[in-house]
Amino acid sequence: MDKLAIQGGKQLSGELRISGAKNAALPILAATLLADGPVIIRNLPHLHDVTTMIELLGCMGVELVIDEKLSVEVNVKTISNYSAPYELVKTMRASILVLGPMLAHFGKARVSFPGGCAIGSRPIDLHLRGLESMGATINVKGGYINAEVNGRLQGVRIIMEMVTVGGTENIMMAATLAQGQTVIENAAREPEVVDLAKCLIAMGAKISGHGTDTIVIDGVDRLPGCTYDVMPDRIETGTYLVAAAATRGRIKLKDTCPEYLEVVLQKLREAGAIIAVGKDWISLDMKGRRPRAVNIKTAPYPGFPTDMQAQFMAMNTVADGTAAITETVFENRLIQTHEMNRMGASISIEGNTAMIFGQSSLQGAPVMATDLRASASLIIAGLVAAGETCVDRIYHIDRGYECIEEKLQLLGADIRRLSD
Ligand code: UD1
Repeated sequence: MDKLAIQGGKQLSGELRISGAKNAALPILAATLLADGPVIIRNLPHLHDVTTMIELLGCMGVELVIDEKLSVEVNVKTISNYSAPYELVKTMRASILVLGPMLAHFGKARVSFPGGCAIGSRPIDLHLRGLESMGATINVKGGYINAEVNGRLQGVRIIMEMVTVGGTENIMMAATLAQGQTVIENAAREPEVVDLAKCLIAMGAKISGHGTDTIVIDGVDRLPGCTYDVMPDRIETGTYLVAAAATRGRIKLKDTCPEYLEVVLQKLREAGAIIAVGKDWISLDMKGRRPRAVNIKTAPYPGFPTDMQAQFMAMNTVADGTAAITETVFENRLIQTHEMNRMGASISIEGNTAMIFGQSSLQGAPVMATDLRASASLIIAGLVAAGETCVDRIYHIDRGYECIEEKLQLLGADIRRLSD
């Protein structure tokens, strides 16, 4: 199993290009199942999760042409198998996003039921309830969700009991080919939901209200297809900004989108960073100063993203002062704490809040990654720690960060991959 070895203590400095967003690429690839004609998706990030989604489409018999820059042309005309097998779903929960599109386009779908994961039980009840209210018959047998609909799905008004990104995406995709109008209330407002809606509109769908908590979809008979560029990854952007802030460095990130990172940039300014933004770039300069502790409370967009929480915890471990981080989106997402304490951090947890008492330094140690964003936070901790940190189980990081060690090396970090 690959590991990352980091010699900490170097200030990050330099420029980087941000990749396409994983969390937009995955639903957009699932959405290609809705189109009749070819769909070309560009700016896909080179990540394990993206290859898993492509593999999933391939195993259904969908025709895929991939070029060297990872643009993918998808043609679903050749589909022969309406099933998402356990072997793929177990490695990537987002596979559930093929359920709505398959049901809407082909009237049937069989998708392995995703299990829990390190950050909590993560149910999908709201996805299933939404599709049932549109007329689908769903039963779970042998670990699989079997869904079918007689004729077309029907447009309905759905009030989401809680804000769910994947649930909103699954229902929005299904509604594009339903008969009549679907209204999703208490919809997720995440930029990735908006990007998916824009791609569906480019395919021929009729959607309005995306980016607000009420999305209205008027079903159409067919979606012809389109060419679409995936938005930049706001979490990758935020992760490099925090890494630079924690190491008292100075960086510029290009091909990104500052408007989606407002609350993160606000928190970095509070930590003492000097931030400048242009249409598609962000720069951060700590002027060599230690960051100040910042309190965080995660919430659905436009609140503070749960996917940035662990990275801010890493920065707070070496910040000036004490910070409270409260996680409200997932039940078990402060798991990086124990590994950070092994590096000399001082963090205590009560319920869903972590108190982080900033230390003047951390010490490198062998640590274990437990999930994607926790891995990123351990790398940040390794970058600020004195001596060597070895992060084990980094397959988690390869799911969500394109070429992380090359990108960090470009910024001057001493980091290398060790393969067994
Ligand atoms: C997506 C992101 C993930 C991010 C999360 C929250 C992708 C591929 N992943 O995950 O990186 O951390 O949004 O911003 O886009 N819930 C239910 N029932 C449901 C669905 C969700 O109770 O049917 C709960 C979940 O357990 C969780 C909360 O709702 O506590 C939010 O989950 P959700 O927004 O659905 O996250 P994902 O779409 O899985």
